[in-house]
Amino acid sequence: MPAVAILSEVGAPSDPHTFTWTISHPEMEVLIAADPLDKPIGLITLSHRPILKLGGRAASIDELVVTKAWRRKGVGKELLRRAVERAKVLSVKRLEVQTFGPLTDEVRAFFLACGFDAADVGTFRLR
Ligand SMILES: CC(C)(COP(=O)(O)OP(=O)(O)OC[C@H]1O[C@@H](n2cnc3c(N)ncnc32)[C@H](O)[C@@H]1OP(=O)(O)O)[C@@H](O)C(=O)NCCC(=O)NCCS
Repeated sequence: MPAVAILSEVGAPSDPHTFTWTISHPEMEVLIAADPLDKPIGLITLSHRPILKLGGRAASIDELVVTKAWRRKGVGKELLRRAVERAKVLSVKRLEVQTFGPLTDEVRAFFLACGFDAADVGTFRLR
């Protein structure tokens, strides 16, 4: 299974062209977790850019998915830890994640366990 196909597990489009664009983009980082046979089991993407009002760089976790058979084994936490390390190397001043779907109790519990807090900000999306 190509790494991008993991996204289909959460109903996200797994378009190979967008994946190629993502991995070759200068302001994106992609980390893939693999099982002992090198089969992809998890994926995290981080995008970053300068923000004037921050006076520095902000980053977002755009995707974080672990394949169902490998959940609750620490893979998601390790992927997130490595993305956070990368963000620190990039001197990121703000690191955020927006859930793909509604915020479930499970996803909330995961991010709290990984050192993130729910942000008190409004998000608006163009209709
Ligand atoms: C969220 C997700 C990435 C977590 O990955 P994971 O590898 O299963 O998570 P971990 O095993 O590293 O969990 C680390 C800790 O988070 C918490 N946690 C993780 N999943 C949880 C769940 N379903 N319910 C409650 N707590 C949970 C636990 O404290 C866990 O530690 P523990 O297993 O020792 O109790 C995975 O469930 C997933 O891919 N979900 C679908 C996509 C998604 O919602 N992504 C996040 C938003 S972009």
